[in-house]
Amino acid sequence: MSRAIAVDHAITVGLGARAYEVRVGGGLIDGAGQALAPFLKRRRTAIVSDETVWGLHGARLSAALERAGIAALPVIVPPGEQTKSFAGLADVTDRLLALELDRGDVITAFGGGVVGDLAGFAAAIYKRGVDFVQIPTTLLAQVDSSVGGKTAIDTPRGKNLVGAFHQPKLVLADLDVLATLPDREMRAGYAEVIKYGLLGDFTFFEWLELNAAGVLAREPVALAQAVARSVETKAEIVAEDETEQGRRALLNLGHTFGHALESETGYGAALLHGEAVAAGMALAFRFSASQGLCPTQDAYRAGVAIATAGLPTTLAEVAGHPFDAQRLVRHMAQDKKAEGGKLTFILAHGLGEAFVAKDVDATAVTAFLKLEGAA
Ligand code: NAD
Ligand code: GLY
Repeated sequence: MSRAIAVDHAITVGLGARAYEVRVGGGLIDGAGQALAPFLKRRRTAIVSDETVWGLHGARLSAALERAGIAALPVIVPPGEQTKSFAGLADVTDRLLALELDRGDVITAFGGGVVGDLAGFAAAIYKRGVDFVQIPTTLLAQVDSSVGGKTAIDTPRGKNLVGAFHQPKLVLADLDVLATLPDREMRAGYAEVIKYGLLGDFTFFEWLELNAAGVLAREPVALAQAVARSVETKAEIVAEDETEQGRRALLNLGHTFGHALESETGYGAALLHGEAVAAGMALAFRFSASQGLCPTQDAYRAGVAIATAGLPTTLAEVAGHPFDAQRLVRHMAQDKKAEGGKLTFILAHGLGEAFVAKDVDATAVTAFLKLEGAA
């Protein structure tokens, strides 16, 4: 289902010599050959993709590259979070070596956040670093994981614990590919869209209150606007704080509660990352209200916006409930965002007014989770 190439939005991630463009629009895959050509020393690129994405959209990308005289060298991996592992990384790097990819070649990540994080990390370390391009195919990857250069794999001790900052050379967010994305994955990605409104853009939050149905139905104008506004916000934050020394942490709104829930549910189909973030954001707003930091009506309104998109806002809606409050808090203490035994949360003074709270008391969180229904 291709349409004429329409770059509705081109957003620059302003990182000086490493600046790059995120193009958002329809039909971008059909023009991938011309888009990638300036970055290639040889007319070839290794494409890391998963079986599902490659089966649905691989022929279209290969044909587009071949029209521009670029050989597409597929490195196809199984779909799912378990691929983002040491074993998955070993497999991908071995296959890149077998393809005799050299330091002047470019890796193309073609898939969701799993493929983007894995291929990006492989690019960061392959022969001490090669360039890569992101062609994200989930809403979550288009608005979040393909932008900003965080790449990682999971280890048995936790998620994203081994990785590198490695910025892509280009991001092509082709909205057409979202037509095949299952509705549940679309909603999970939408959680990250709401996140941008909740963390710092009240006007965008209000726009989403009115346009959620259009975005989720993949109505082209609403979808392009939602993706572009999300990317603009992320690009602006990343340009200011690439390695998360300060403000970039705001992008973790909902993630401390969310990662604890993901740890308990096993990082799989029981609870998708975006669903965990959705519940986590609702909990972060209610926790903020419970501590007198945020008006109760703002926490309520955040929850309504999240629930209206068909996303969970309470522990009771998450498979695995009832959770143990102390186990959840222990996961939070192990999170990368915990420093010196104190819990770090992104809390809110109101809608669009998130802030980093570095010394949150674990007992207050435990008590709050019990009020929320945890054992
Ligand atoms: P995913 O990559 O697992 O994709 C979800 C599912 O959708 C997969 O089964 C995939 O095969 C399928 N899929 C992808 N595109 C499709 C399409 N167009 N049509 C049909 N099916 C399609 O998951 P995700 O939600 O995209 O990403 C989650 C990952 O992203 C997690 O590992 C998370 O840690 C990571 N992440 C990274 C960052 C970052 O900054 N690097 C930010 C957020 C999340
Ligand atoms: N997803 C959080 C970040 O990119 O910083």
